[in-house]
Amino acid sequence: MTESTSPAPKSNKTPARPTLKAVRGTRDLLPDQTPLWNHVESTARALFARYGFGEIRTPIFESTELFARGVGEETDIVSKEMFTWEDRARAASEKAQSLTLRPESTAGVVRAYIEHQLGNTGNLQKLYYIGPQFRRERPQRGRYRQFWQIGAEVIGPQSSGSESPLRDAEILEMLASLLTELGIRDWRLELNSVGSAEDRVRYNAALREALAPIKHQMCEDNQRRAETNPLRVLDSKDEADQALINTLPKIADYLSPESKAHFDQVLAALDACGVPYHLNPRLVRGLDYYTRTTFEFTVTTGLGTQNALLGGGRYDGLSEMLGGPRAPGIGFAIGEDRLILTLQAQAEADNISTAAPKLDAYIAPLTPAQNPAALSLARELRAAGLTVEVGDGTFKLRKSFDIADTLARHIILLGEDEAATNILTVKTFASGEQTKVPRAKLAGALR
Ligand code: HAM
Repeated sequence: MTESTSPAPKSNKTPARPTLKAVRGTRDLLPDQTPLWNHVESTARALFARYGFGEIRTPIFESTELFARGVGEETDIVSKEMFTWEDRARAASEKAQSLTLRPESTAGVVRAYIEHQLGNTGNLQKLYYIGPQFRRERPQRGRYRQFWQIGAEVIGPQSSGSESPLRDAEILEMLASLLTELGIRDWRLELNSVGSAEDRVRYNAALREALAPIKHQMCEDNQRRAETNPLRVLDSKDEADQALINTLPKIADYLSPESKAHFDQVLAALDACGVPYHLNPRLVRGLDYYTRTTFEFTVTTGLGTQNALLGGGRYDGLSEMLGGPRAPGIGFAIGEDRLILTLQAQAEADNISTAAPKLDAYIAPLTPAQNPAALSLARELRAAGLTVEVGDGTFKLRKSFDIADTLARHIILLGEDEAATNILTVKTFASGEQTKVPRAKLAGALR
């Protein structure tokens, strides 16, 4: 055996500046934060179940080609934000391939829909997912390189009713219900129709024509977009270009009668459900697969500039773009990190804690000899459904009280007498009251 040459640690405290840190744009979620995440996720799961959605879990990485074809080569996501690597062949039976950490999940869900022939059931598929996504963006509040989405997709053959405006309205009504149930106060639904693929051909031509004489006055990015994908100019955030962008033709004027009727029916169903919305003719969204209905929910509290809480829309041609059958669909993805930031900001304004509730009890064995009895008592109380932590008989009484006070509502003292008589001393921190409780009645008393 070789002797270790590293010096023994002088202190068990973490150094002020640890050398290994989470990678820029990624975060650890610690136990004082995760209760709120779990609450949001369980609320979403229960609500999605009430609307007939089932959960789908797709891989975290996919072939790069999926996103290039689905999301679009010209989008910011594919052109500059993906984490992509060449995966070398390890055996003669394998091929080298380009792989990418998923920047979003719609493309993966539609790939799974095609791969597993879910359309063959003839039924509408209502699928939801909760999981991390990866984009190499400039990190800031509400914008991370690994972030979480809670999303859902409704997709199926035309005969399943997947194209019906009722589906668009149902998704939007479900989102309004979810945000209201979670207690998000000031959400705002922005809505647009970007038309069918055919409408877009005509609209793109009109945009190109309108951009031709003015594009040289725009920023470099917009000059490039004006050439490659004029629709992208509409969601440009460049301050100086806004006045020019506002003069461009509006998509609403290029919708076919069918697209217009579809959109009108979405609005009528939202009116019938009492879901408020704001029409935003510039809302084209940053992914290429959208057709007809597109939307975002924004909030005014907690997010600053990254105020889009969620986004989504219809993608009637995506399955075919990925080599599948015709399968119109619509879906959304909530930025879970942003939802949590909003809830935290609201709770802070209201002076409400979002931390986990305290444990029911902390058991303090008074000497090491009582450790086994303490663990056995904890086992009994936990089996009765109580939340319990056990101390250690080597701790001084003062230390046990201090720890118990931070963790739990009650402390249970377990010394030689208590073990012999099965009558325990229980102190309730909120009232300062100390009582003797027979072991058989302990669970009831702690509740
Ligand atoms: P998206 O608009 O790219 O759409 O993303 C949806 C939401 O994810 C955004 O509104 C935002 O809340 C959140 N998000 C995006 N990027 C980041 C980031 N870097 N950090 C934190 N949060 C972020 C989609 O992903 C589509 N797949 C939505 C969809 C589903 N459309 C149809 N079905």
